[in-house]
Amino acid sequence: MDFAAQLIQWYRQNKRDLPWRNTRNAYHIWLSEIILQQTRVAQGMPYYHSFVTRFPDVMDLAAADEDSVLKLWQGLGYYSRARNLHFAAKEIVQKHKGKFPQNYEAIRALKGIGDYTAAAIASFAFNAPHAVVDGNVYRVLARVFGIASPIDSPQGKKEFATLAQALILKKNPAEYNQAIMEFGALQCLPNNPDCGTCCLLELCQAARNKQVGILPLKAKKTKQRTRYFNYLLLEQGAYTYIKQRGAGDIWQGLFEFPLLETTSDISEKELLQSPEWKAFFGNTPIQIVSISPYCKHLLSHQILQARFFTIRIGKGIPVGIHNSFLKIKKQQLNSYALPRLIDRVVNDLS
Ligand code: ADE
Ligand code: SF4
Repeated sequence: MDFAAQLIQWYRQNKRDLPWRNTRNAYHIWLSEIILQQTRVAQGMPYYHSFVTRFPDVMDLAAADEDSVLKLWQGLGYYSRARNLHFAAKEIVQKHKGKFPQNYEAIRALKGIGDYTAAAIASFAFNAPHAVVDGNVYRVLARVFGIASPIDSPQGKKEFATLAQALILKKNPAEYNQAIMEFGALQCLPNNPDCGTCCLLELCQAARNKQVGILPLKAKKTKQRTRYFNYLLLEQGAYTYIKQRGAGDIWQGLFEFPLLETTSDISEKELLQSPEWKAFFGNTPIQIVSISPYCKHLLSHQILQARFFTIRIGKGIPVGIHNSFLKIKKQQLNSYALPRLIDRVVNDLS
């Protein structure tokens, strides 16, 4: 049996029963693919159900306001996915009369949809012969065909895309695409795959050449930047202050407490004496109730170290609180879209 036939046979015996695999509804498939881009199936599942329930078709999503889309997305991270989803829904209403476009190019032209997602929607919903190439596919192809080109170089990307397209089963692109991804997700795992039980063992170059541990190859190591966030959890009776994050950084559109950011790990005492701290509080009398230790929060290319200063303030308002801040009851915090880091702290408090 050849590669594709083996994969399909394996898939029919081993596939997970997932709701987006039992539909040809392009809108639902699109939702699932965007949710699953940087999220595990188990974590994404409840979000998929709540989006399909709350916005049963693309018109409903397009008609929603952005804040409620972000609120429903809360906890998933990578919030530009939600903003792009909402933007693309409006594009579909305006340019395609609310009907999900059916061909690859028109799907690829929508905001937030790249090569992978366009191929996934075109094949799963319309059975169009476009090969998906995601992390799972890179891994399976690199190992089975013994390809050592870096998957993060332009040349390597082209090579893998061409191979993937040559291998796709023309008579059943949807099932083939699902099969190769599922095989990467369940059998050909990133670390220590169980090659002994693998149906592709005979075909697999990496297994034959003892290269399973080194393939797929990457050209560059991703280096991570660390940022230090000092959040000011101000308490003025039942009230606190929050602010919506703007464009050009992480968490666009989400709400957070007043923030003093530093690029290095400075002590609490240094912070309290820093110009930034003085500029924020001015002469306002304050009482520091508690200071949390740093908690670490990982984003894709950044490490956040965040700590929380709980501070009681009297009648006065610190000069750092300008008119882009909202004064809200602490109890109302949960009705705003919050980064997961903040949401966790808020729910520990109550
Ligand atoms: N991850 C991304 N797309 C997926 C799909 N269609 N099924 C399972 N996991 C996925
Ligand atoms: Fe992956 Fe091992 Fe199977 Fe090769 S033999 S496809 S490396 S699980």
